[in-house]
Amino acid sequence: MRAVGLTRYLPIDDPESLVDLELADPVPVGRDLLVRVKAISVNPVDTKVRRPRPEVEAAPKILGWDAAGVVEATGRQVTMFRPGDEVWYAGDITRHGCNSELQLVDERLVALKPRSLDFARAAAMPLTSLTVWEALFARMGIDPDGADRGSTLLLIGGAGGVGSIGIQVAKHAGLTVIATASREETRAWCRGLGADHVIDHAKPLREGIDDLGLSHVEFILNASDTSRYWDACCDLIAPQGTICGIVSTTGPVDIQPLMAKSARFVWELMFTRARFQTPDMIEQHRILARVAALVDAGSLQTTATEVLRPINAANLRTAHARLEEGRMIGKLALEGW
Ligand SMILES: NC(=O)c1ccc[n+]([C@@H]2O[C@H](COP(=O)([O-])OP(=O)(O)OC[C@H]3O[C@@H](n4cnc5c(N)ncnc54)[C@H](OP(=O)(O)O)[C@@H]3O)[C@@H](O)[C@H]2O)c1
Repeated sequence: MRAVGLTRYLPIDDPESLVDLELADPVPVGRDLLVRVKAISVNPVDTKVRRPRPEVEAAPKILGWDAAGVVEATGRQVTMFRPGDEVWYAGDITRHGCNSELQLVDERLVALKPRSLDFARAAAMPLTSLTVWEALFARMGIDPDGADRGSTLLLIGGAGGVGSIGIQVAKHAGLTVIATASREETRAWCRGLGADHVIDHAKPLREGIDDLGLSHVEFILNASDTSRYWDACCDLIAPQGTICGIVSTTGPVDIQPLMAKSARFVWELMFTRARFQTPDMIEQHRILARVAALVDAGSLQTTATEVLRPINAANLRTAHARLEEGRMIGKLALEGW
């Protein structure tokens, strides 16, 4: 099979940072599906795993954790899928990623893709949808069916991959959404996705919240730098509110300011269930199935804004370079081999 991978961790402008490879076809056993990958998307996790360092891999490492494709074969214990099924998934960070023509993935992490989206537009969504769904509903305890209607969510980083689906999912749950964006095009994108208000993260967030006539917000999903916005989040969170972080801190943070408000800070890491094989890892199958149904019902729209063809090392280097600029609007997908 064709694949794109690395053995050395190099800056993305080095042609050896991601290279075209020919590898043996993998064979599914147990609960694994063998998926023929039709389209993929890129995420900051790819560039973080690829960050330049002296380490050298003995065998090629395959990145990529956002895919849509067709089930080619199944392991003996697979019960939920058959060859020919069109599926989408993010997968497992401890295994080879989806930057290959064929990929093994545990069926509990997979669902049928939305019928109304082609492969590229579908591949843009699984990782960020799982992140947002788990963050809002599993970690922060918001009710997906509207019992928290009217509560306010501040979403830091509204126009990126996470923010773009986060705005939509939060609106679907009935929340009032304040997204942050620093440019005219990212502000317009957030409003187009349904954000009730957009404030500028290039200015102190407190100013933007004051300008809206608010003192606090009940929920904060920080899809940007946890350390950078820590003090602002502690200030802006309402008494008994909840803050969710999805990005590693750059150093220790002081949790004391949260005590007077009995406020909570929670982490979301989309790979936890797969990495630790938690007993509830099939939840990712259920979440992706529910998101697919919402897409097919017209309640959620794809976040894909651009598609590169074909999937090869040159186009993946372009995609990683774009991500590293930190100015993505929605998601960049790649399609075809
Ligand atoms: N824990 C998890 O499971 C998980 C899952 C997914 C992602 N993540 C992490 O979450 C982060 C965001 O992911 P993503 O896919 O949304 O990234 P992304 O698509 O690359 O985000 C790009 C967006 O970031 C915004 N941005 C740039 N500087 C900012 C700042 N100082 N403050 C707020 N926003 C800023 C930009 O908006 P403007 O152009 O308007 O400034 C741009 O639209 C990454 O660090 C990623 O690794 C974690």
